[in-house]
Amino acid sequence: MALLPILTYPDNFLLRPVRPVDEITDDLQKIIENMAETMYQAPGVGLAAIQVGIDKSLIVYDPDADPERGEYSVIINPCILEMHGSVVSEEEGCLSVPDMRCDIERAGRIVVEGLDRHGNPVKFEADGIESIILQHEIDHLNGTLILDHISSLKRQIYKRKRQKLIKDE
Ligand code: NI
Repeated sequence: MALLPILTYPDNFLLRPVRPVDEITDDLQKIIENMAETMYQAPGVGLAAIQVGIDKSLIVYDPDADPERGEYSVIINPCILEMHGSVVSEEEGCLSVPDMRCDIERAGRIVVEGLDRHGNPVKFEADGIESIILQHEIDHLNGTLILDHISSLKRQIYKRKRQKLIKDE
C-alpha cells in the first residue's frame, strides 16, 4: 500500500466534476486501499478520489477514523436520492482545505445509491455523522468544497490567507 498526496485548495483539479467509474478492476481495488490508508494517516473521516488527483466517482469513509479496526466504507458512483430535515455540522473540516473549520447546514437524513467496491448496487439510508460525511464527500465529486458553503466574506479572507501562505513557502 502507499500513501497518496492530498491536493489542497486552490488546486483547480478539486473544482471539476469527476467521471463515473465504468469498470471494477484490480487497479481500482489498489486505489481504494491506498485511499483508505491515506485517509487514516491524515487523519480524516472521509476521502474522495479527486482529492488525491484521481478523476473517478469514488469515496472511502470511516466515521470512527479507526485504522486498527479498519472498517471503512466504499461507495462508487454515489448519488443522493433523498434529503430530509436539516442539521448544522459543527466545525466541519476538509483535508483539502487546511486550517478551515465551519458550521454548514446539511440534510439530517439522506438516502444514497451507488455501487460497493465489487460493483454490486447498494442503496441505504444514513443519518448523523455518516450522513454529513457522505454529503461532504459527494460534494467533492461535484467540484464543491466547504468554501462554497460559507459567506463570501469568510471565503475572501481564507483565500487571501492561503495565497499569502503559498507565496511565503
Ligand atoms: Ni473534504
